Amino acid sequence: MTRTPLVLGVESSCDETGFGLVSGGVLLGQGLASSASQHADFGGVVPEIAARAHLEAAVPTLRIALADAGVELGDITHVAATSGPGLATAVHVGLAAAKSVAWSLDVPLYGVHHLAGHAAADTLEHGPLPAQSIVLIVSGGHTSILAVGDLVRDPIEHLGDTLDDAAGEAFDKVARLLGLGYPGGPAISRAASTGDPTAFAFPRAMLRPGDAPFSFSFSGLKTAVARTVETIRRAGDEVPVADIAASFEQAVVDVLVTKAIRAVQERDLGTMVIVGGVAANARLREVAAERCAAAGIELRVPPPRLCTDNGAMIAAVGDLLVRSGAEASGLGIAADPSAVLHGAQLPLPR
Ligand code: KG4
Ligand code: ZN
Repeated sequence: MTRTPLVLGVESSCDETGFGLVSGGVLLGQGLASSASQHADFGGVVPEIAARAHLEAAVPTLRIALADAGVELGDITHVAATSGPGLATAVHVGLAAAKSVAWSLDVPLYGVHHLAGHAAADTLEHGPLPAQSIVLIVSGGHTSILAVGDLVRDPIEHLGDTLDDAAGEAFDKVARLLGLGYPGGPAISRAASTGDPTAFAFPRAMLRPGDAPFSFSFSGLKTAVARTVETIRRAGDEVPVADIAASFEQAVVDVLVTKAIRAVQERDLGTMVIVGGVAANARLREVAAERCAAAGIELRVPPPRLCTDNGAMIAAVGDLLVRSGAEASGLGIAADPSAVLHGAQLPLPR
């Protein structure tokens, strides 16, 4: 008798240690630990500290996920793990944990592309993706507009990517500049909530006719904020942190939403999906909802807790792979820290 598939997902590409359990597209439970506070003094993630924290958190966090789902370790039928992209030392720890579980239970192991996990997270909340959609991925390391069909069967097409900083990276850098700490996204968002988004006219890069329609650039915006702060400090004035945070946030959100809507319209599609850590941003969610409604576009954004890194999103990809009959990746898979997103499984099936 074949058992109903129960997929364990393992995520460790950055500073979150995540385990999730998914069966038939349904999230049964998860465990999540974060080493973010240990990196705060450094203004960004220190790979060695992250790897050590993953090692310490792995077993307790897996136990939390099992208890949350109300299942036993032996109930797991398949394991999926982020094998890239991410910090090499960090990816290795989760991948080794996943291999250990798969080997000890004698169940198949699937390597998963972390960014496909972000896209799959939305299916846990809103059900299967439509046949075709535009996915805007905005994370700490990546910013891309993708044309996505069947997430685990079809190649993923990049319409445009960032040419320099990722959106989340821009949030983190500007937060550091304003003395708001790490991680910068939530800190900027908090500060921005009492600020005036029109106080400073920061640049909206690459929106002119002739610019690559779906590419992004955020380093100029970061420099503009830095120059503004410097000028104010040099004049001996107090830096209006809330107004700068709100104006910066609005500039990022404007560009992201404008380009993603353009992609949906150019491809004549009906759905936009926004995923990744920055999709947790309240202003982005609000502006995207307004502009999508005005343009007659269905907007899908996972709840904030599924936007930032977690194990459930990796289990979601594993579950889709299992149900599509994909061949397992095998225990021999290696971490691929700089894997480009072409497909959900790593390594890509030949
Ligand atoms: O997807 P994620 O958890 O990790 C990566 O795959 O990179 O994204 C982390 C990024 C960080 O840059 C963080 O500052 C940003 O997402 N972020 C936010 C918010 N929450 C997290 N950015 C803006 N607003 C937020 N509320
Ligand atoms: Zn991520």
